[in-house]
Amino acid sequence: MTVQPKDESAPSRPTAGRANRPQPGQDWSQWPTYDAAALGFRNYWYPVVWEREIGDKPHAVTLLGEKIVLVRKGDVVHALHDRCPHRGVPLSLGRREFPGTVSCPYHGWTFDVTNGKLAAVLTDGPESPICGRVSVKTYPTAQRLGLVWVFVGDDQPHPIEQDIPAELLDNDHVLGGKYDIREGNWRFAAENGFDEGHAKYLHNTALWRLFKVMPAWNKTRVEEHGPWLIRVQDEVHWDAHFPGLGTFTNKRWWKRMPLPDAPGKGKNVNPVIAGLNLPGFVSIRLPGLLRVAYPDFIHYEWYVPVDADRVRYVQIMVRFEDGPKGLLFKAKYLAAIRWLFHGQFTAQDAWMVDVMDAPPEKLYRPDLSITGWRRMIEKAAPTPQPHKAPPNGC
Ligand code: FES
Repeated sequence: MTVQPKDESAPSRPTAGRANRPQPGQDWSQWPTYDAAALGFRNYWYPVVWEREIGDKPHAVTLLGEKIVLVRKGDVVHALHDRCPHRGVPLSLGRREFPGTVSCPYHGWTFDVTNGKLAAVLTDGPESPICGRVSVKTYPTAQRLGLVWVFVGDDQPHPIEQDIPAELLDNDHVLGGKYDIREGNWRFAAENGFDEGHAKYLHNTALWRLFKVMPAWNKTRVEEHGPWLIRVQDEVHWDAHFPGLGTFTNKRWWKRMPLPDAPGKGKNVNPVIAGLNLPGFVSIRLPGLLRVAYPDFIHYEWYVPVDADRVRYVQIMVRFEDGPKGLLFKAKYLAAIRWLFHGQFTAQDAWMVDVMDAPPEKLYRPDLSITGWRRMIEKAAPTPQPHKAPPNGC
């Protein structure tokens, strides 16, 4: 199974329940903030594309339901509302007539990419009286980890460092990654990421797990540590005996013995990962970032809302090394991890998110990870603001 990168402008395939929107008569009052966040949480920094993807051509993206165009000027990537205020044509279809500007393809209204101001109107001459009186909204941008980040919101942006795990900013590392546009609301993707139950069953067919045993079932709790919610294993069971039915286990003669019960334990633990003192492998935080820590590398995935029915699924795998060990990891990433983990393994997750039809739902004991995440959001998150279309001009 593979997830094909999708063109964001393509319509989403309709699937019942995908958008996770309250239906008439359903009582969703238990998670009002979470339920209202179909388009994600505003006033956060979101990773969007690789820096290297933004060349001279404007690049269209949709974030939290807002159409945005990314445009490079020198080393810096800028973001503007992707709509010409004249007649509403996307600026992402435009041309770069002059350095530091983007020109609408229809009548040539030309905007300064740094501040969104109308700098020239090509079809109205140098004396055009509308120049300087119209602008398009701009979005704060930053470039970190090889990615372009955009702050989507209404507040003054806080430092981007608040939205990136500190270990990524404070330590040398190498990383590999990929992103896809996937079907499904971002909350389904986030819940799948932090879901305690599914990996032991859904992913026991993944090639990534071919030589590694997964538990059959666990007893788990969730703990808050700073901005993170962490799944902690109280009991790990490798076999489950069901009277009258048989035994369920993921053990096979060719599989290696299990990982320790926390990422900082065991042999060959990377010192940066050991220093995090994580009580469990899997953590999640706002606005929708999952961290899966292994003893010697960490996988991160961001669920960036495109709209209510699609998510930009940004994955990176990080090894906290430089020099030859770092280069070796990068080679391993490109040769295997990218296909096995960021490909087939997480494509199984994409499949479930795509076909899921909920609510309604009947939860079971391991779903305390999902309810813990929803509860954390209710406590920590700002109430999402209703989506406001950016101004078309002034
Ligand atoms: Fe953009 Fe006319 S619609 S210049």
